[in-house]
Amino acid sequence: MAIVCITGASRGIGYAFARAYLEEGHTVVAAVRNPDCEGARGLAAEYPEQAHIVAMDVADDDSVEQAAREIEAHVSAIDILINNAGLAKEPDESRLEDISPGDIQELFNVNTLGPLRVTQRLFPLIRNGTDPKVIMISSSVGSIASQRGGRGVPYCVSKAALNMLTKLLTFHCRPEGVAIAALHPGWVRTEMGGFNATLSVEESVAGMMQLIATLSNDSPVYMDYQGNEMLW
Ligand SMILES: NC(=O)c1ccc[n+]([C@@H]2O[C@H](COP(=O)([O-])OP(=O)(O)OC[C@H]3O[C@@H](n4cnc5c(N)ncnc54)[C@H](OP(=O)(O)O)[C@@H]3O)[C@@H](O)[C@H]2O)c1
Repeated sequence: MAIVCITGASRGIGYAFARAYLEEGHTVVAAVRNPDCEGARGLAAEYPEQAHIVAMDVADDDSVEQAAREIEAHVSAIDILINNAGLAKEPDESRLEDISPGDIQELFNVNTLGPLRVTQRLFPLIRNGTDPKVIMISSSVGSIASQRGGRGVPYCVSKAALNMLTKLLTFHCRPEGVAIAALHPGWVRTEMGGFNATLSVEESVAGMMQLIATLSNDSPVYMDYQGNEMLW
């Protein structure tokens, strides 16, 4: 059985990942901003032996440090780290003047620097893992080659940067035997994806879990939830 650490496990895709790994019998470190939230309380109540709820705001250095110490007290290794926590803003830039540098900074801090902070701080535990893997939950809108406009600039910029970060981290992770990938989960029915999205969280997560199980140093770095390689 694996030890899986998931950020943003309070709801949406992160929560679905946590539930699915718990149902398979794995140990899950569910990192959430608010451990008192409904999702976290539910996981802890249903899986008291397997689920460890940890408070973590990925946008905050001190919070990640605190959480990492707590995680180290619970587990001596992490086999799979899923950097899922993410933030979007309603796309509202009809004019160039509307693009908000402040929003770009905010989303960059969560969506790009968050996964870096968490991966760096937890890397000693990941090194101890069995067949260890680092997963970045990216997005198709982070693809520069496929960009046709129509989504918010801050979100797209943050996910494009996350893709580059993932590619650059392969040069550190792969030599140490740590597989790494940036996955587009598809368009998923969550608060972020909205109710018109084409996929349920269960469909998206099932696809990504299958991919994660077979991920290796030979896998493409940027893929969708079905394993199709994405254009950078
Ligand atoms: N849904 C889609 O169609 C779609 C498509 C492409 C990519 N994605 C990506 O998939 C991931 C999950 O998205 P989702 O659809 O599940 O979104 P969601 O339902 O809005 O959930 C976002 C999760 O991220 C957490 N989060 C936000 N900021 C955080 C922070 N600073 N520190 C820690 N946790 C934080 C939230 O925690 P709180 O409950 O505390 O707010 C929540 O658990 C994101 O990275 C997103 O960009 C989603």
